[in-house]
Amino acid sequence: MVQFILNTQTVQSEEPLGMTVLDFVRYHKHLRGTKIGCREGDCGACTIMVGSLVKGTMQYRSMTSCLMPLANAQGKHIVTIEGFNMEQLNPAQQALVNEGGTQCGFCTVGFIVSMTGYCMENAQATYDEAIAAIDGNICRCTGYKSIERACQQLVKSLQKKPTQKPIEWLVKKKYLPAYFTTIPKRIKTITASQAKPKTNSIAVAGGTDLYVQRPEDMVTAPANHVFNQNKLKTIYAKNGYVYIGAQATATDMLESSIMQTCFPKMDEYMKLVSSTPIRNMGTVAGNFVNASPIGDLTIFFLALNSEIILTLKNKERTILLKDFYKGYKKLSKKPTELIHWIRFKKPSKNHVFNFEKVCKRTHLDIASVNSAAHISTKGKTIKEAHISIGGVGPIPTYLNKTSSFLIDKKLTPALISEAHKILNSEISPISDARGSADYKRLLARQLFFAHFITLFPSTFSLQQLVVESA
Ligand SMILES: Cc1cc2nc3c(=O)[nH]c(=O)nc-3n(C[C@H](O)[C@H](O)[C@H](O)COP(=O)(O)OP(=O)(O)OC[C@H]3O[C@@H](n4cnc5c(N)ncnc54)[C@H](O)[C@@H]3O)c2cc1C
Ligand code: FES
Ligand code: FES
Repeated sequence: MVQFILNTQTVQSEEPLGMTVLDFVRYHKHLRGTKIGCREGDCGACTIMVGSLVKGTMQYRSMTSCLMPLANAQGKHIVTIEGFNMEQLNPAQQALVNEGGTQCGFCTVGFIVSMTGYCMENAQATYDEAIAAIDGNICRCTGYKSIERACQQLVKSLQKKPTQKPIEWLVKKKYLPAYFTTIPKRIKTITASQAKPKTNSIAVAGGTDLYVQRPEDMVTAPANHVFNQNKLKTIYAKNGYVYIGAQATATDMLESSIMQTCFPKMDEYMKLVSSTPIRNMGTVAGNFVNASPIGDLTIFFLALNSEIILTLKNKERTILLKDFYKGYKKLSKKPTELIHWIRFKKPSKNHVFNFEKVCKRTHLDIASVNSAAHISTKGKTIKEAHISIGGVGPIPTYLNKTSSFLIDKKLTPALISEAHKILNSEISPISDARGSADYKRLLARQLFFAHFITLFPSTFSLQQLVVESA
């Protein structure tokens, strides 16, 4: 059984826990405002807000209900477009009307949910962030300019919004219906605990891979729903290591002060990964176990020479992430073994890190090739180097030979050119929809050079590296 608050009502349901929230709200609760577009997390027509009680206040995140199992709604406040209804239009709706931001209207519900959800965030509203909040919504009619103007209008109206706990202000100013202020008290009466998993069940986290790959199966497949395990969402530092819970999402990492301190460009890197609603759902462990050769989080953590801590029947083992991949989608893992933690050595002040991704469009696209580099130096000498690359072989690749070749060598263009030759011998790209093998080899070179140009700008320029390697 699952229990949660759906808009204004507390609901209990015996429907299969693997049913999508989209099908539940449309076909069982007859809330037809939420639209069905792609059912693959791409279009945003099915966007809902999901509220969780965090340290006594509600935190709302946009999610695509087409990929969200009902189990993940346990103990949450699920808000569909109907849950934002008031006697008058709210300022997000009014801004879209004023600017002509809707034509056929199929995408409009998703845009309104994302825009209203953006108003609920704990920060000063800015135009760039408002636009980022709709990066998971696609419109085939308007050409976006009118929607951008509506965001501009909305942001202007939010300038006096408090930057912490804004719900009461939003209710007073009629952005949200009044019942939102009663949710924190009501949600405490609902247990967040989940049904015990059946044996031999498959782990289901955010569902953003599983529900794209096996949508029908997942409704009734025996499942261990792990997304709501709050302990495994935490990120902390201890004894020189940073620990990331397996069920932390890309958003959790983006917002973590520890990650921001270790990687000052964290925000930039994570915003290259999928879209806001998918980053709110997709977990680190899900990315590792999906084993896509271009998994962005996998490439990120490979370059940190991370370890993963796996658990099976209370027995724990720790292995290097680079040893987890045995062949295309073949893992060093028993079927019901779970990843619990990822850990890496906290970078010292001598360490630098860079992540690069090339895809056909900047947002909401998977990589043609992605790569990360983690390097420590003493003076001009490399003391530690870990380079990872995706999209150029059957597995997300840690470049063993290239990385060890760099150690104890002086940073010079000639060194990078030599290292690039080794990199070339370690990769085996194939031609596919994301580019020809030759193109990917060229990208691999460019991203490898990009690491050194970005990390050591006074030592390297692109022209110098290209001439040296000619
Ligand atoms: C529209 C869209 C855009 C996307 N864009 C990107 C992108 O830009 N970059 C990118 O890298 N990925 C992208 N993805 C893929 C996906 O979002 C990520 O791979 C995500 O991290 C998967 O996590 P999840 O929690 O949703 O996994 P799930 O679908 O829940 O699970 C995936 C696999 O992991 C296993 N699993 C989950 N948790 C555990 C655990 N604790 N222990 C053991 N096994 C576990 C599951 O059994 C399953 O085999 C995109 C997906 C969509 C739908
Ligand atoms: S229906 Fe397209 S994202 Fe859900
Ligand atoms: S108004 Fe038609 S898809 Fe956006």
